[in-house]
Amino acid sequence: MISTDVYKAADLLSKGEVVGIPTETVYGLAASIYSEKAIRKVFEIKQRPLDNPLIVHVASIDQMETLTKDVPEKAYRLAGAFWPGPLTLLLPKSIDVPGLVTAGKPNVAIRMPGLGLTRELIATAGVPIAAPSANPFGRISPTTAEHVARYFSNEIPLVLDGGPCRSGIESTIIGFEGEEPIVYRLGSLSLDEIEAKVGKVQLRNKKEVAPDAPGMLSRHYSPKTPTVLCDDLVTAIANRTEKKIGVIALQNEVAGENLVQKVLSPKGDLKEAAQQLYAAMHELDQSEVDVILIERMPESGLGVSINDRLERAAQGE
Ligand code: TXA
Ligand code: MG
Repeated sequence: MISTDVYKAADLLSKGEVVGIPTETVYGLAASIYSEKAIRKVFEIKQRPLDNPLIVHVASIDQMETLTKDVPEKAYRLAGAFWPGPLTLLLPKSIDVPGLVTAGKPNVAIRMPGLGLTRELIATAGVPIAAPSANPFGRISPTTAEHVARYFSNEIPLVLDGGPCRSGIESTIIGFEGEEPIVYRLGSLSLDEIEAKVGKVQLRNKKEVAPDAPGMLSRHYSPKTPTVLCDDLVTAIANRTEKKIGVIALQNEVAGENLVQKVLSPKGDLKEAAQQLYAAMHELDQSEVDVILIERMPESGLGVSINDRLERAAQGE
């Protein structure tokens, strides 16, 4: 069921099947936007409410243009700078996009993935591909084909294997009010990189201020194991009473007994940390630890996006 055969995956997609696909950010649960049956199946097996729309993946700007209208000039500027790549643009949809995909909303979320294999798949299938992250609603996103197979091997015929995702957290989502860009979800493209292209942008990534971005629930990206975000791991460990503690640290292991530890980047590189994060969470969630403690990242560059995910993963604990 895990396969590297891009033609087989494309064939299944064009026949209205749901397949797992790699991208540079996380793996997706993919369907042709024109197959109502496949799109319904995506919502169903992900247990995703029908009012939470899907991102559409394209292989070219031409394809994007058939799916949208009235594209702001700054959207073209951002696409020019960051596509193919981990940037999703919210744009007014054309009549070509079925309402089921956008959950009845007037905008469609579109991105051109950075992984060449994904674009080859879309071009071969010959249709735009809707794909949410390939995890059950609220759970940790998958960054390997094996993660997808573990979640969905009974429900889908194939996962296309593109290796471990090189970015490791989801795309950054940007919408527009007139020409003004608004960031609705922090992600693999950092705020600094975006602002270097289009100037200061508004951040509206909390549910209270972004009722239009239904995916931004506070608890999300969560392991089954209770997960705690820590400013200081040493103090946090000293205060825990659990028998077996999982630890995810940025740079250095911590001294202590009964710890199962993951270091995200020995050299403290936040890009590497983002790339490693979900795999570390998956691994500790599979192991027999009673709690997972995760170190807060420095609040700069990609650290801002990683901390956003960690806050959601730890919500309610
Ligand atoms: O990196 C990514 O973006 C991955 C890969 C597979 O491309 N996809 C992904 O999809 O993270 P998903 O469905 O897990 O998250 C998409 C988010 C959701 O919060 C959804 O509510 C929002 O985008 N979204 C999608 N279409 C939208 C629309 N038309 N209007 C507003 N929000 C939208
Ligand atoms: Mg998701």
